[in-house]
Amino acid sequence: MHEVERLIQFEDPSTVAAFVAEPIQAAGGVIIPPDNYLAQIREICTRYDVLLITDEVVTGFGRLGDWTGARHYGVQPDIMTFAKGITSGYQPLGATAVSQPIIDAYIQASTGEPELRHGNTYSGHPVATAAALANIAIIERDNLLDRTRVAGDHLARLLRQIAQTLPSQVADAGSEGLLGRVELRNDGHQPPGTLGNLVTTKMREAGIIVRPAGDVITLSPPLIITSEEIDTLIATLHDVLLEAMPA
Ligand SMILES: Cc1ncc(COP(=O)(O)O)c(C=O)c1O
Repeated sequence: MHEVERLIQFEDPSTVAAFVAEPIQAAGGVIIPPDNYLAQIREICTRYDVLLITDEVVTGFGRLGDWTGARHYGVQPDIMTFAKGITSGYQPLGATAVSQPIIDAYIQASTGEPELRHGNTYSGHPVATAAALANIAIIERDNLLDRTRVAGDHLARLLRQIAQTLPSQVADAGSEGLLGRVELRNDGHQPPGTLGNLVTTKMREAGIIVRPAGDVITLSPPLIITSEEIDTLIATLHDVLLEAMPA
């Protein structure tokens, strides 16, 4: 039995309101699930009448080559949360999208108005939402979802290569769309995170911003990155790894 189903049964399904997950858990080190993971979760949630909420703050608006991470995995959640990619960071904006049955419940419970009331000082802020609309128009105009898929395939190829070429430095590497991970091999002599910080600093000195999650170097380049720029990213990482982690 799936662990999630076991847990729902253990807790008593009538006490479980929702299952919340990122399609790919990003900040913990870009944990890429098996392709069918989210679909299995959807099926379990539906069977036990548990809402599925996907946190699309990282995966939404193109990161995986589709509008949402859920769509990338062929799944329809009940609620989705968004931020970051919704404006590509040019304005601070967060959003929650809910499916029709949920909005219906709110309409019945209040005045009959088609509104899910949630009082925020800056709800629907015109400047932030204008930036989001402009951002979405650019994603569509420049075909960034398709471009992300193509660039993502290239990144995945190079990450497989670097894992094969530098087995003493790289324990694991992979990506989905333009969200990647390079897990550094920590032989246990260094406190966790030391190598991640060292490699990140040296990458920055070489002109490339990456982010460590412990000893995993996480990659989240702009959706407009070119193949040549991906080549430069991985070639620089290759050189930095050899310098920072001599075999
Ligand atoms: C997946 C995920 N969800 C939520 C958040 C928090 O988003 P916000 O600060 O927009 O509320 C972050 C922030 O990095 C995140 O990575």
